[in-house]
Amino acid sequence: MVLSMERWIGKVAVVTGASSGIGAGIVVKLVEEGLVVVGLARRIDRMEIAARELSGKRGTFHPIKCDLSVENEIIEAFENIRKSLGPVHVLINNAGFAKMAPLVNGETEKWKAVLDVNLLALCICTREAIKDMNEHNIDGHIIHVNSVLGHRIPDSFPLNVYPATKRAVGALAEVLRFELNDLKSNIKITSLSPGLVSTEIFDAYGVSFENVSEALAGGNLPCLNVEAIVDGVVYILSTPPKVMVSELTIRHTLEPL
Ligand SMILES: NC(=O)c1ccc[n+]([C@@H]2O[C@H](COP(=O)([O-])OP(=O)(O)OC[C@H]3O[C@@H](n4cnc5c(N)ncnc54)[C@H](OP(=O)(O)O)[C@@H]3O)[C@@H](O)[C@H]2O)c1
Repeated sequence: MVLSMERWIGKVAVVTGASSGIGAGIVVKLVEEGLVVVGLARRIDRMEIAARELSGKRGTFHPIKCDLSVENEIIEAFENIRKSLGPVHVLINNAGFAKMAPLVNGETEKWKAVLDVNLLALCICTREAIKDMNEHNIDGHIIHVNSVLGHRIPDSFPLNVYPATKRAVGALAEVLRFELNDLKSNIKITSLSPGLVSTEIFDAYGVSFENVSEALAGGNLPCLNVEAIVDGVVYILSTPPKVMVSELTIRHTLEPL
């Protein structure tokens, strides 16, 4: 199998959750590979700094401020992308987070916020990207960022609704594969399941990575850096037409989850 990013050069890739962690890392790599990358997130200031740092690379970075829990903002963002940059070829549904809100007594608003971004926004972005791909006969690629917690739930760190959203992400990837299959479409759909990666996701949950590390592994929790996941994305996108990685799990060899 010959792996190559060649066919994506100059093509539009949308990365959700591009302002930090895995999403920010994917942006850098795809711009270096020569793609026209659009980032969607609320913290526009962070993405604008990245855009300045990336100027002069092979590709370009175009940040758009977008709250993914608001459908109109997503629709408007995709319309702007179509008009100003062209049709979407690659979509990385990366945005996601967890909130501290136990199932026994948590707040509905917190559960809803997680479901809105981790699931509904992923479905809306996917629909909007496929609209472009179908209209322009593009054999595009969609990657849903899942999690090892979408496959197995650890009793040491249960995270309330979060693993349920990730199980659903895996299910959505499979259902989309069948729908595309029925349409005889060559659009690819991949579920990418990272293990533990040291990012701000823990701050959003309300604990520091150091605290999680202490609780799970006495302060010595093995985890990956963002680059390992970014390299996984490049591998997935580099596969030849009609060869599809449908699920890829990437974890540290010693990960306890
Ligand atoms: N880190 C891990 O150990 C790990 C493991 C497995 C899977 N994952 C998955 O990897 C993905 C990326 O997570 P990460 O670890 O890189 O976390 P992160 O650094 O906290 O990044 C989360 C991203 O999601 C965006 N986001 C959250 N709510 C949003 C909203 N309402 N509208 C727009 N953007 C929103 C954030 O942007 P703004 O706040 O600027 O809006 C941010 O860019 C997630 O799907 C996560 O579930 C992570």
